[in-house]
Amino acid sequence: MTPRKIIIDTDPGQDDAVALLLAFASPQELDVLGVTAVAGNVPLALTQKNARIVCELAGRKDVPVFAGCDRPMKHSLVTAEHVHGKTGLDGPQLADPVMPLQAQHAVDFIIETLRREAPGTVTLVPLGPLTNIAAAFTRAPDIVSNVQEIVLMGGAYFEVGNITPAAEFNIYVDPEAAEIVFKSGIPLVVAPLDVTHKVLTTAPHIAGFRAMGTQVGDMVAAWTDFFERFDKEKYGSEGAPLHDPCTIAYLLQPDLFSGRQINVEIETQSELTRGMTVADWWGVTDRAPNALFLGNVDAEGFFELLTTRLARL
Ligand code: BDR
Ligand code: CA
Repeated sequence: MTPRKIIIDTDPGQDDAVALLLAFASPQELDVLGVTAVAGNVPLALTQKNARIVCELAGRKDVPVFAGCDRPMKHSLVTAEHVHGKTGLDGPQLADPVMPLQAQHAVDFIIETLRREAPGTVTLVPLGPLTNIAAAFTRAPDIVSNVQEIVLMGGAYFEVGNITPAAEFNIYVDPEAAEIVFKSGIPLVVAPLDVTHKVLTTAPHIAGFRAMGTQVGDMVAAWTDFFERFDKEKYGSEGAPLHDPCTIAYLLQPDLFSGRQINVEIETQSELTRGMTVADWWGVTDRAPNALFLGNVDAEGFFELLTTRLARL
């Protein structure tokens, strides 16, 4: 089987880090052409650095990392240090990366790659605000029809918001960018909070990461340990949701997930509900479906996949 070509657009973030590791642990299925960093959980200077830290941890210094947009299209940047800590990857002690950052801008890399590769063979996997992706589509509309699929983490319907009562963080930070992506006509798979809140890193899972006895296992345990504290306090849940790894798990084993092909629109106007994903789950409008909106996951199957793959690194 030829591995599927993907670009991971990310704002690491502990859960982004686990998503990157899961992708790197699956080279037979996924060929990571590049990692593009965007401002989100923490500012760009940290997300691009964190992306390189994770590549090095996975032994993948060969994967090019690019820095992209340092602020959303229209609004000022909102960050999430209250969840991820000051560095974005708080938890374990981390050394600075030695692999270089690419000189090329992430948006140029996305455009160039989609023009170079055969149409319909590159999938985009956004794990943060959609600024880089929307900037690429705006600057080079010819690349839109070349994208095979977009598999993203963002939005919420039944769970509503985590950063405001109405909005999920990634969409809230750059709703104008999200609107461009959701209206692009590209096949979309959306992993919203409705599904990511069902994959919780409970204590036995963290113990399982530690029991791997590898540097990757120790790091993932320390990251999820840190990341957990926020959701435990906020939701009273048993552990932290592994939001972003849901996208990679979907690419590896889509049958772990179920959802509905529905219409999803982004609220950009209202101060009160800015960034809300208005998901027509019940089909009450005649708006055309534009996304597979995931709603359920086999959590045990997800953790089985995650732990077996991470143990390979
Ligand atoms: C999303 O926001 C970030 O904090 C996480 O990395 C994830 O991508 C969850 O709302
Ligand atoms: Ca993220």
